[in-house]
Amino acid sequence: MDAEKRVAIAEVCPSGAIRYRRNDGRPNESPPPVNLTAIREGGPCAVLAGRRQGFGMTLCRCGASKDKPFSDCSHHDVKCDASGEPPTGQADMLAVRDGPLNTDPQTDGPLRVRGNLESTGGTGRVLARVQGATPCCCGRSAHKPFCDGTHARVCFKS
Ligand code: FES
Repeated sequence: MDAEKRVAIAEVCPSGAIRYRRNDGRPNESPPPVNLTAIREGGPCAVLAGRRQGFGMTLCRCGASKDKPFSDCSHHDVKCDASGEPPTGQADMLAVRDGPLNTDPQTDGPLRVRGNLESTGGTGRVLARVQGATPCCCGRSAHKPFCDGTHARVCFKS
């Protein structure tokens, strides 16, 4: 396959598993112009953002992954029915849409995300624009995609 086609595939890889490093003097991978997260119907949350560890990752939303906070496709096994079109929240345009995004998994709880982030549903509708969030990782929140504290009541183990 042509090298430029490989680069194009890597740049849209939703999980961040496909990466590249150029050896022709041209720029290597760079962070996206907008930090984005896309909520999948009945599935995980794809993130493309300026992270120190790479730019893409796919986060578990069902609580069943054996590789939390990342998805391992267990949502198929547990027949996750989380909506990909949750209600719109705070969606005013951010002054800055890129920049570093820090993700900090909380023990037996949600993921703590800090940084500029624009979230879209499965149809591409903007759900939220925030500078920090706590996405649910246990799959039991009544306010998905965000944590509502239910993880403590159901004794979620991450
Ligand atoms: S992590 Fe699911 S409710 Fe908090």
